[in-house]
Amino acid sequence: MVGRALILLSFIICLLNHVTAIHAYHDIPSPAHHFSAKHYREKTRKMQLDKVAFAHPDTTFQPPSPVLPPSPSILTAALSKSSPSKSSTSATSGISRAREYHVTTYGADPTGEKDSTDAILEAIADAVQGPGNGELMKGIVNLGGVRINLDGGIYKISNPLRLPVAGRGNLMIHGGTLRASDDFPKNGYLIDLSASSDLEYIYEFVTLRDLLLDSNYRGGAIQVVDSLRTSIDNCYITHFTTTGINVQGGHETYIRNCYLGQHITAGADPGERDFSGTAIILNGNDNAVTDVVIFSAATGIVIEGQANTLSGVHCYNKATGFGGVGVYLKVPGLTQTRIVNCYLDYTGIVAEDPVQLHISSSFFLGDAFVLLRSVNGIANGINIVDNMFSGSDKGIDIVQLDEKSCKFKNVKQVIVDRNNAKGMNIKSTIARGTVEGNNSSWMVDLSKDLLFPNLIKSVQYSLQATGDQFPNHALRSVTDNRVVITTDVVVPASVTVTVDQ
Ligand SMILES: *[C@@H]1O[C@H](CO)[C@@H](O)[C@H](O)[C@H]1NC(C)=O
Ligand SMILES: *[C@@H]1O[C@H](CO)[C@@H](O)[C@H](O)[C@H]1NC(C)=O
Repeated sequence: MVGRALILLSFIICLLNHVTAIHAYHDIPSPAHHFSAKHYREKTRKMQLDKVAFAHPDTTFQPPSPVLPPSPSILTAALSKSSPSKSSTSATSGISRAREYHVTTYGADPTGEKDSTDAILEAIADAVQGPGNGELMKGIVNLGGVRINLDGGIYKISNPLRLPVAGRGNLMIHGGTLRASDDFPKNGYLIDLSASSDLEYIYEFVTLRDLLLDSNYRGGAIQVVDSLRTSIDNCYITHFTTTGINVQGGHETYIRNCYLGQHITAGADPGERDFSGTAIILNGNDNAVTDVVIFSAATGIVIEGQANTLSGVHCYNKATGFGGVGVYLKVPGLTQTRIVNCYLDYTGIVAEDPVQLHISSSFFLGDAFVLLRSVNGIANGINIVDNMFSGSDKGIDIVQLDEKSCKFKNVKQVIVDRNNAKGMNIKSTIARGTVEGNNSSWMVDLSKDLLFPNLIKSVQYSLQATGDQFPNHALRSVTDNRVVITTDVVVPASVTVTVDQ
């Protein structure tokens, strides 16, 4: 009886939780669009299937037959062939020796049951301590493209995987899943490209490809320190508590076609309010993040260096209403960042004292906006142009200023223009307006349209008198973004003004 009562009670609590979660969810911008997106996808998929069926009216549409896996005997043969060198091709031919190091031949357990740290470290050590041929950058041995193959397995890792030596280049780790164990160091990274070294660059042209990195809520996934031309390609990075990919120093780390999220979700997650961690930190120059989805994290991308580029990045990591940030540009005074063709989905961009910042051809959904935050009051060389904004008629401005610590007092070359908005207020640094009347004074109020308060750098106006008089006229005032034109006599006229901040 007691048991049943408990079950009933917990069921009711559960139900109540559910109701409050839904309620809490709906008083902030609701990412309900993810549901409709799914619906849309299913619809289009069905349409495609219909199309296939229609194109082959005589045959019933059948899925392709499954590919047979290689038989165990073939596998065993391959393994035994490589066993002396632990490399996929033995040295016995004496001519060519393929250098792909399979972690399973080092005893790594692809089922994820046993700890595989030592086995994988051994494979890495053999790979990077093998023969090289010449140098890339000074002090970096060219390993020729040696590969460490994770053989499509899932491996439990209890310590960060580091290369045992510095000064190596042209190698790849690929093709499997690494999962942190329950005792993995909480400040560690599953793959840690760092080493103490006097070299200017520790590693060059390291490729991490086709990996699923599961930090198991213990630390981060990848760290890249003082390295050059690192590629992180087609990786799925999840369950990080600190940072998914942390780039410190070096340059030209290219993060492409990756998916990052602290929690595995497709949006509208009931736990979104508690998402933490940062998906990507770029604390270095000349890096690029292209075609990357960030589906859960307090902050999507933090940029702390110059000349970085984001393109094709979709952030729905944590809604602004819950305190999330999509892209945080923490480089006051010299930003030099381009953000193009990105999708800021319920979460926006924050830029501190931006100097040279370009944001264009991007889509901001769910009341997402760009926030310019003043640190020392500098905004110089900013283009926010040709973007689309969509919101829910809550009167949210597409570009906003945070002047809590200091007013923007040094504003130059800022162009916010040619954006369109649905359900949000357009803010610009270029504005136009027309007033008509029979008067000697005309005021065009542009304070609602202009981004910076009380700042008009140039005015053009035309006064069209509809009567037959020739009045004298002049620009009298631009205070508080209100332009005043006066005439010496009362005339019926229309006055059109264009201003620039
Ligand atoms: C404009 O105002 C003046 C002075 O009040 C008046 O004499 C004139 O008729 C008005 N003109 C028109 C077109 O309303
Ligand atoms: C001119 O416009 C001002 C402000 O709208 C108004 O107060 C004033 O009465 C007008 N003057 C004439 C002559 O219509």
